[in-house]
Amino acid sequence: MGNLFRGELIRLAAMDAEKMSKAWEHWNRDALFRRLLDNEPPTLWSARKIQQWIEKELERGDQRFSFSIYPLEGERLIGFVELNVTNWQHGNAWVGIGIGNREDWGKGYGTDAMRLVLRYAFDELGLYRVTLGVFSYNQRAIRSYQKAGFVVEGRERGALSRDGERSDMLVMGILRPEWEAQQGAMYKAAGGRDEDRN
Ligand SMILES: CC(C)(COP(=O)(O)OP(=O)(O)OC[C@H]1O[C@@H](n2cnc3c(N)ncnc32)[C@H](O)[C@@H]1OP(=O)(O)O)[C@@H](O)C(=O)NCCC(=O)NCCS
Repeated sequence: MGNLFRGELIRLAAMDAEKMSKAWEHWNRDALFRRLLDNEPPTLWSARKIQQWIEKELERGDQRFSFSIYPLEGERLIGFVELNVTNWQHGNAWVGIGIGNREDWGKGYGTDAMRLVLRYAFDELGLYRVTLGVFSYNQRAIRSYQKAGFVVEGRERGALSRDGERSDMLVMGILRPEWEAQQGAMYKAAGGRDEDRN
């Protein structure tokens, strides 16, 4: 049995509100990061205010699974990923992810973290589907999500207005059988035989 919290490039760690708030205070200074992440006006909150907000979010214990992202080597906090179970009965969750510094984008960290969280969602929590929202101008994110196995399921046309242009909000999702098929394909591509999998 592999380590649930270790990928090929990154590891998932506990959400430490103090460490995360200091990182967020820094990441927030890049308005592009916030414009890729959500549809709120970018804000410049103090680390203290961010910490209070994170602590409040963490109180929503049994439906929210929040992780910090670190590269396999070292203690540099590079991002977060968060699974929010919206309905246990039907096995549904939403996921959100962010790698804070531009220098860390496009290096495979986000896809690796997403794959770990999907494994956690399907294998550990027994969920059936994971959904996310992404803006049409965030092509890097869309590509990363496709690599992790998500497909585009819907499009809210013109949902965003930024710099005088309207953009769409895409809804992407992945189902447990799709994820399982992907695991099987990856195992075979690595030279394994189906009958040896456990
Ligand atoms: C979205 C995010 C999590 C993706 O993680 P990442 O580590 O940067 O992504 P990866 O390196 O794993 O994969 C990115 C893929 O997009 C491709 N890509 C990069 N820029 C691209 C662009 N402008 N257009 C299309 N594809 C692009 C990369 O080449 C790579 O694909 P490849 O492996 O086939 O070459 C990360 O970039 C991030 O957090 N960005 C800022 C905040 C954000 O957008 N959050 C998500 C909100 S929905």
